[in-house]
Amino acid sequence: MNLKGRNFLTLKDFTTEEIIYLLDLAAELKAKKKRGVPVDTLRGKNIALIFEKTSTRTRCAFEVAAHDLGMGTTYLDPSGSQIGKKESIEDTARVLGRMFEGIEYRGYGQEIVEELARYAGVPVWNGLTNEDHPTQMLADMLTIREELGRLKDVRLVYMGDARYNMGNALMIACSKLGMHFVACAPEKYFPAQELVAQCEEYAEQSGGTITLTENVVAATRDADVICTDVWVSMGEPDEVWEERIRELTPYKVTAKVMENAKESAIFLHCLPSFHDLKTKIGKDIYDKFGIEDMEVTDEVFRSPQSKVFEEAENRMHTIKAVIAATLGAV
Ligand code: CP
Ligand code: NVA
Repeated sequence: MNLKGRNFLTLKDFTTEEIIYLLDLAAELKAKKKRGVPVDTLRGKNIALIFEKTSTRTRCAFEVAAHDLGMGTTYLDPSGSQIGKKESIEDTARVLGRMFEGIEYRGYGQEIVEELARYAGVPVWNGLTNEDHPTQMLADMLTIREELGRLKDVRLVYMGDARYNMGNALMIACSKLGMHFVACAPEKYFPAQELVAQCEEYAEQSGGTITLTENVVAATRDADVICTDVWVSMGEPDEVWEERIRELTPYKVTAKVMENAKESAIFLHCLPSFHDLKTKIGKDIYDKFGIEDMEVTDEVFRSPQSKVFEEAENRMHTIKAVIAATLGAV
């Protein structure tokens, strides 16, 4: 398998075999790191990390992964570059492509990361857009495989706003990997019809299925994995909170939801998560709406079924695999 020179913008661009290869590589790099075996074959190379939205996991994962591989990193924060304001994406791509061996981009529209990739001349990695979150998918799939021992035929239920980056990305990943993806949400939060149709084609090839339903009990019965995400994503206006709380509260991941799933079921969340009152936004929402949690209860979040911190750790190992594979370190 040779992924050298490839961009990593969406899993739509990758075959099932290529995705499995990246997961296997991540598992190998993880095992090596745990054993203290260095893999720093990209010494002397540098990557740029562009963040037009904030981040904890993705930024740290890229930085640690790059440093482990022997590379240097430059972080461009949401306000600290000329991108989009004084300089076009095309010009930015051409400049950074002359200095760096690879570029990570987190921001708004998928078309921006695509444009960056078109002009950079070096691999571009999508660190989250409004429409997709492909590096998160590798971490989620690695975690599922570690916890359940397989991916094929796993029934994964995503509850909440299924039309945004996480819902879309999970539907793409599951349909590529022969899994059974269920979006459980009010109909207006279902993924876009065009993407569903595209993923149905992937599912047909891989032996997976896609189900969109409003019915929580039917959706979560015998599920292997229950996933959710914040109800209001980065870049969305504060005004939507009230509507989201009203419309998505029936789709909160509660102990009752977990009981309806398989006994072996795990809970995943890309994080950050509103499961208690220990955040500023969590407190503001409590003051305004009187609710102590949102997409998941604190009970489920802290339960043994919750693998969210394993999932967070796997961001680093999987991102390392993406960097290593696309820069030809392996
Ligand atoms: N899951 C995720 O992408 O987290 P960050 O926003 O902290 O990078
Ligand atoms: N849907 C969330 C994911 C955060 C990792 C957002 O876009 O803010």
